[in-house]
Amino acid sequence: MTMPLPRVAVLASGRGSNLAALLDARERGELPVEFVLVGSDKASAGALRLAEAANIPTLALDPRSYPDRRAFDLDLFARISASGAEWLVLAGFMRILDGEALTPWVGRMINIHPSLLPKYRGLHTHRRALEAGDHEHGASVHFVTAELDGGPVIAQARLAIAAGDDEHQLAQRLLPLEHRLLPAVLGLLASQRLQWDGHAARFDGQLLQKPLALGDEGLRLAE
Ligand code: GAR
Repeated sequence: MTMPLPRVAVLASGRGSNLAALLDARERGELPVEFVLVGSDKASAGALRLAEAANIPTLALDPRSYPDRRAFDLDLFARISASGAEWLVLAGFMRILDGEALTPWVGRMINIHPSLLPKYRGLHTHRRALEAGDHEHGASVHFVTAELDGGPVIAQARLAIAAGDDEHQLAQRLLPLEHRLLPAVLGLLASQRLQWDGHAARFDGQLLQKPLALGDEGLRLAE
């Protein structure tokens, strides 16, 4: 008997290169999940075109047609639930979510953020890392909670900042790491090696003391 694949919805506001990485990983047989919905707050998002090309149902909701953030988020989450999704991945979804509306998804929703959280929550992360004179930058995947970019961090990819790097170069060099990080984390969730215990992330049953680290061979426990 074949087990049904874990069902995943993805939200993205932009070009969708992280979505593309998820779809590629699935195509290569490295990510045994079913993508049941790709949603966006922007009808023009490249991510929606990628989903259409992959025959994944899409959803575009315009925040301007709702009275407030909560109304938008409640409708968005209701539609995601109706898709049958068990997991929700924010892959470049550039909206702040209402803390109450997202509650039913806590532990089942992850976000990729382009910084080494807890550093640089919010926007302009590459610029802020450069302005701070950091020697290292990176990306994080975390469980989403009501605190913006503040939920428990699951895994990180690290990158040395080179002398003369500008914001654009740094973002460009980080992106391929994001494209490995996000599918790897989703794969661990789908296989249940990674679990949410109501407060924190557990990896193979053990409380995750530090984020997993992305290395050449994939994710591993950080030293
Ligand atoms: C990615 O760099 C992702 O880390 C970032 O948006 C980009 C989306 O690119 N996410 C955030 O900044 C969330 N706060 P993509 O559309 O090509 O995947």
